[in-house]
Amino acid sequence: MKNKSLVSINDFTKEEQLRVLEAAREFEANPVQTILKDHVIASLFFEPSTRTRLSFESAISRLGGKIVGFSEASNTSVKKGESLRDTILTIANYSDLIVMRNPIEGSARFASEISPVPIINAGDGSNQHPTQTLLDLYSILQTQDTLDNLHVAFVGDLKYGRTVHSLVIALCNYNTTFHLVSPVELKLPSSVKMHIKEKNLAYHQYTSMEEVIPNTDILYMTRIQKERFSDPLEFERIKNSYNLHKDMLVDTKENFKILHPMPRVNEIHINVDEDPRAYYFQQALNGVYVRQALLSILLGYR
Ligand code: CP
Repeated sequence: MKNKSLVSINDFTKEEQLRVLEAAREFEANPVQTILKDHVIASLFFEPSTRTRLSFESAISRLGGKIVGFSEASNTSVKKGESLRDTILTIANYSDLIVMRNPIEGSARFASEISPVPIINAGDGSNQHPTQTLLDLYSILQTQDTLDNLHVAFVGDLKYGRTVHSLVIALCNYNTTFHLVSPVELKLPSSVKMHIKEKNLAYHQYTSMEEVIPNTDILYMTRIQKERFSDPLEFERIKNSYNLHKDMLVDTKENFKILHPMPRVNEIHINVDEDPRAYYFQQALNGVYVRQALLSILLGYR
């Protein structure tokens, strides 16, 4: 896997994904190391981020590496009209690996095709968010002791949610039963559903989440994403479609856990946070261990 790029979750085989999860377990046990002390990693965020950018930067720092980059492109020569191609070719001269989030779908694939150093896609528009998927898989494994034969419910923006797209595709390797809960306007795209159908897995679609809660192992909540709507009135109409409250959690399986890639707006009430079934802050912490594992593997240290 040395020098591979990670643009789409399917760039890694199931075995390669599991190798990252296995290494993440070791980093969770021993997170402070110096294996990246001779490396410079570029962190290029053309779109806002809290968890992905800062957990990558935390992972790099805890491994002794150095970071160059930006958290918004307005202070760079992109503002003067520099192309993505020239930006990537330039920054590849300054770094050993590039982590990039960009609002344009396909931008990470393009970058990986022209870059002499590996590219990690930290989210490209509504398309893919493969490192989130690796940490989601890790979180599922940590809470369920298996990835196989689970019932996973996805709730919210399944149309534009890149974390949903990548995770659905990855879970197709594990005989998952999918429960897809969304407003009719935000159903899972057929291009993603195709992966479920190709594996002959079961999926069920709903508009309300109450009925799925008693039957699921993992409830994967997502935000209705204002920034993906061209019509603000449509967003206003459906923005409050889901709001998970503590009193909705009376009848759940023993192993039930709530995940959310975050940020949340109001789809999970804060009265759920103290519940032991709420796992989303631990999930965000898992991002550090998984990104430590990924960087170490792509730079040839594992
Ligand atoms: N999960 C996630 O991508 O969060 P950020 O947008 O804060 O990076």
